[in-house]
Amino acid sequence: MKGNYEHYMQKEIHEQPDSLTTTMRGRLTSGEGGKPKGVVLGGLKEHVDTIRRSRRIIFIGCGTSYHAALASRQIIEQLSGVPVTMELASDLLDRQCPIFREDTAVFVSQSGETADTLLALEYAKKRGALCVGVTNTVGSAIARGTHCGVHINAGAEIGVASTKAYTSQIAVMTMIALALGQDSISNREMREAIIDDLLRLPEKVREVLKLDEAMRELARELVNEQSLLVFGRGYNYATALEAALKVKEVALMHSEGILAGEMKHGPLALVDETMPIIVLATRDAIQQKQQSVIQQLLARKGRLIIVCTEGDSVKMCPSGKAKVIEVPHIADCLQTVVNIVPLQLLSYHLTVLRGFNVDQPRNLAKSVTTE
Ligand code: F6R
Repeated sequence: MKGNYEHYMQKEIHEQPDSLTTTMRGRLTSGEGGKPKGVVLGGLKEHVDTIRRSRRIIFIGCGTSYHAALASRQIIEQLSGVPVTMELASDLLDRQCPIFREDTAVFVSQSGETADTLLALEYAKKRGALCVGVTNTVGSAIARGTHCGVHINAGAEIGVASTKAYTSQIAVMTMIALALGQDSISNREMREAIIDDLLRLPEKVREVLKLDEAMRELARELVNEQSLLVFGRGYNYATALEAALKVKEVALMHSEGILAGEMKHGPLALVDETMPIIVLATRDAIQQKQQSVIQQLLARKGRLIIVCTEGDSVKMCPSGKAKVIEVPHIADCLQTVVNIVPLQLLSYHLTVLRGFNVDQPRNLAKSVTTE
């Protein structure tokens, strides 16, 4: 059922305008017909007040699902006012992390069957936390075992590397943030702007998918590299981690996502004229800081590929000494959805060019049911 596509991963990347539409269907009201702009999440309705009153929200997941949670952390904190902490499921269990009755634990899992996430769910339940599931699989162990939750409705994901589930997870968690902030008057304008942009998101993703050929071209340039660094910060730290994970798991190329704010604390030593570095520098509240990172990397003759907002090429790289990929602009909290798409395409094309199995990468399984 790959249709006109050669691989499931390719199909699933290109399906994202539709999967995002399905994820949001019936959940957002646009303000038309006299209804106020807002979000309705049936599976969470009864629990929204409890979550708002929590001492903290703990996001728990593995791999790409963890990255989706990380991408949503800031907007949940901003709109709910509740601090959010991040936990990789295996590490939470190794540390026997303290969890309390006043906590809300959110379990993010595409398959809903990942062993570490499932064990962390049992652990959190025993300690009395409210457990919320964000999964793509109705009837999965995590969907059944949590007290409440939201299905992402992204449709079956066959390729082992998660793509459309990632973007739909972020859309769902943004809607959760909106639901948690729904009663606040001070955030109203911001919430309404995010709703407008959620409704525009499928179209923006359709636009950014037009970069397919440009990403194939970039993959040709990078095909024989040993390593690829990806620098991001703020919302796009998650994009950097997720892009690097895609490149290593399918293209079997070493890649590392780096928090740009940490650059001077070690990674800068790797910069020379040969190491390819992707810098995520789209327009948002911290773009100026990324501008300064770019200048510092260029001053060290860094070989940069800059991902920036349409029309910002000259501003972000006045010297013209970097390759630039321009992407459409959207609300800060959703920019990571737009930004990951060209990097998914890059990892896909790198894999094909390097001759590796796209849909079933070496040593990996779609659902990790053992610890
Ligand atoms: C990477 C990938 C994995 C999964 C991880 C968790 O592309 O798919 O990192 O995200 O194994 O799986 P789920 O989301 O099913 O719990």
